[in-house]
Amino acid sequence: MSANSLYVPQLCPIERIRQETPDTRTYFLSACEIDWSRDYRPGQFVELSVFGVGEAPFCLSQSPTRADSLEVTIRKTGSVTNRLHDYQPGDVVGLRGPFGNCFPFERAQGKNLLFVGGGIGLPPLRALINYVLDHREDYGDVHVFYGARTPSDRVYKNELQTWSRSDQLKLTETVDQADPGWTGHVGVVTKLLRGLEVDPERTMAFTCGPPIMLKFVVAELLALKLAQRNIVTTLERYMKCGVGKCGHCCVGHHYICVDGPVYNFEQISFLPEIP
Ligand SMILES: Cc1cc2nc3c(=O)[nH]c(=O)nc-3n(C[C@H](O)[C@H](O)[C@H](O)COP(=O)(O)OP(=O)(O)OC[C@H]3O[C@@H](n4cnc5c(N)ncnc54)[C@H](O)[C@@H]3O)c2cc1C
Ligand code: FES
Repeated sequence: MSANSLYVPQLCPIERIRQETPDTRTYFLSACEIDWSRDYRPGQFVELSVFGVGEAPFCLSQSPTRADSLEVTIRKTGSVTNRLHDYQPGDVVGLRGPFGNCFPFERAQGKNLLFVGGGIGLPPLRALINYVLDHREDYGDVHVFYGARTPSDRVYKNELQTWSRSDQLKLTETVDQADPGWTGHVGVVTKLLRGLEVDPERTMAFTCGPPIMLKFVVAELLALKLAQRNIVTTLERYMKCGVGKCGHCCVGHHYICVDGPVYNFEQISFLPEIP
């Protein structure tokens, strides 16, 4: 990777787009001028620019072991993301990165893994889940818990179906509001963790979702006697430059874009929203 790709947006054509939910799409970006598509780690993010509108950070949502093209899954929330949702295959975005640290996938080796995702919190976890599936012998049991508002708000529906049939991991899903075709759990994802039997010494948890979900997930995981250092999340703080220059992501003397975005809960006790 050239230092240039950290500062100067590289031109990346959109190869293909998959509509995930009414407000979320996955973009497959083809080889950029600098091809680093496999040279990143699960948990890292990129800055995408829509020329004339702005730039925003997005996690790389596929494992580098499967990245024939770069994948980012994007929910419409404001100016850059609204504009991206008008884009079609063949349109070109700017891309800088990869930035930030990554999930501690080496420290997790030999452990049982719990993944707890809410809504658009699944994309960064999915990069690690698929990485683990591609190095399956290095890890213990894998259990993925995924909660969404409604069945149609679930991202990666085909992949969820594949996971549900796989003997390589266990998937448990829930929705806040069911529809007539839904046969799974109903209720918040934290409810699924209550009373779970885990070996706390041999278990690591990875979670991503809205701050209110994280608060309750961490409380449940601590009740299961997991150590704070074995509960890991990725923070989606407001960011601009991604390279530790502008100060937008600073909390105290922490630069989330450089020191993070992946932290264990022992490391982020400095954040006001952490229980
Ligand atoms: C490391 C990282 C990874 C991310 N990965 C993804 C991803 O994979 N998919 C995805 O859809 N989004 C992701 N996000 C969030 C995404 O970057 C923001 O939603 C984005 O800034 C929206 O840009 P916009 O111009 O469309 O919205 P804007 O017009 O900038 O903002 C819309 C509204 O959202 C608020 N806002 C913007 N960013 C944030 C934020 N990070 N936290 C809280 N409020 C915010 C603004 O204040 C405003 O109210 C990630 C953020 C970070 C920091
Ligand atoms: S986003 Fe600019 S310093 Fe972190």
